[in-house]
Amino acid sequence: MSRLLITGGAGFIGGNFTRYWMRQHPEDRVVVLDALTYAGNLESLQDLESDPSWRFVHGDICDRELVEKLFREENIDRVVHFAAESHVDRSITGPDAFIRTNIEGTFSLLEVARAVWQERDDVRFLHVSTDEVYGSLDTQDAAFTETSPYRPNSPYSASKAASDHLVRAYFETYGLPVLTTNCSNNYGPYQFPEKLIPLVILNALEGKPLPVYGDGKNIRDWLFVEDHCTGIEAVLQNGKAGEVYNIGGGTERTNIEIVETLCSCLDRLVPASLSYREQIQFVTDRPGHDFRYAIDAGRIEARLGWKPAMDFETGIEQTIHWYLDHRDWCDRIRSGAYRDYYEQQYSQRTR
Ligand code: NAD
Ligand code: DAU
Repeated sequence: MSRLLITGGAGFIGGNFTRYWMRQHPEDRVVVLDALTYAGNLESLQDLESDPSWRFVHGDICDRELVEKLFREENIDRVVHFAAESHVDRSITGPDAFIRTNIEGTFSLLEVARAVWQERDDVRFLHVSTDEVYGSLDTQDAAFTETSPYRPNSPYSASKAASDHLVRAYFETYGLPVLTTNCSNNYGPYQFPEKLIPLVILNALEGKPLPVYGDGKNIRDWLFVEDHCTGIEAVLQNGKAGEVYNIGGGTERTNIEIVETLCSCLDRLVPASLSYREQIQFVTDRPGHDFRYAIDAGRIEARLGWKPAMDFETGIEQTIHWYLDHRDWCDRIRSGAYRDYYEQQYSQRTR
């Protein structure tokens, strides 16, 4: 039996992972620590509430005292660290929160793990990172491997790169049993509708413009979120301490292809008088916009036997269905109304 601390478990990937882990490992204890920023929504984990093996703690990963208390109280032996500021555009307009959470927050967790886990070799700290730390590829370049140089271009990716370096240093210097995963773009249920795929789905249904940055030719490598969860599970269970594992879907698409795929799917599922393509609007590009990301997942495939299970077309259709069926969730997270839910549910509860 393991005792997990999942940071950022009320966010998109952390929430999917929490749900996945509790399904696959019902014997484990799971503690979710989340600050419930604009991106964290406890409603996404509502169905787990009655499960006694689960505990939610509303708190900040930068609060070292709280983190240490949790480690000791819960006898934590696995950390899966998702908590972050994750949106590139927000990092351009307001980088402070990214430096604080992504760098100082990771540092705080590492310091607590170092202090509490002294001499223990039955523990693991998995740091969830991104392919954006490797910078941008040209069309003809080979995909990123674990030895690609770090060349972050946005405040977001620079803050994630800094956190990756700290994680590495804690292995080399202190022997802390860390693992790092660098993953490509995720899509699927519960993604905050500021990211391309949910934003386009909801704008299309609401008759709003579908904003495509620049010429729409930038390329991302898409992975269904549950495949990211199985990748993290494989690394947490069988990865080698101190190693880095790239995780990716091998599904490279230009942004305009993504938007057109979504429009075609929506035209079929929710036909309107005009094709949703009519709503596509090319807009000013993102400053420092990375041209292409692509992941070489050869290491995790060869060493840990991981492979993505979901093909892109099925995954996109499932995702559209999820957003169609969860319009309430979308309205509440966009309006901030979900915070009332937290107040009602948790204001009487202590940490
Ligand atoms: P998200 O923005 O949906 O969720 C982030 C969660 O972290 C939220 O619940 C938020 O409340 C919480 N959080 C933020 N600051 C906190 C703090 N100081 N203390 C405690 N909790 C805090 O993010 P996501 O898309 O689920 O990404 C999760 C992780 O995966 C991030 O580390 C991100 O860098 C990484 N990642 C994301 C993608 C992607 O495509 N979304 C791809 C690769 C890696
Ligand atoms: O590669 C992994 C990264 O993927 C993660 O580390 C980040 O946390 C995650 O947000 C994501 O970053 P991107 O910047 O690639 O994702 P986003 O959904 O913001 O944008 C995807 C692409 O679509 C990107 O090239 C910018 C473009 N875009 C985005 C938005 C929101 C548009 O053209 N229009 C838009 O409105």
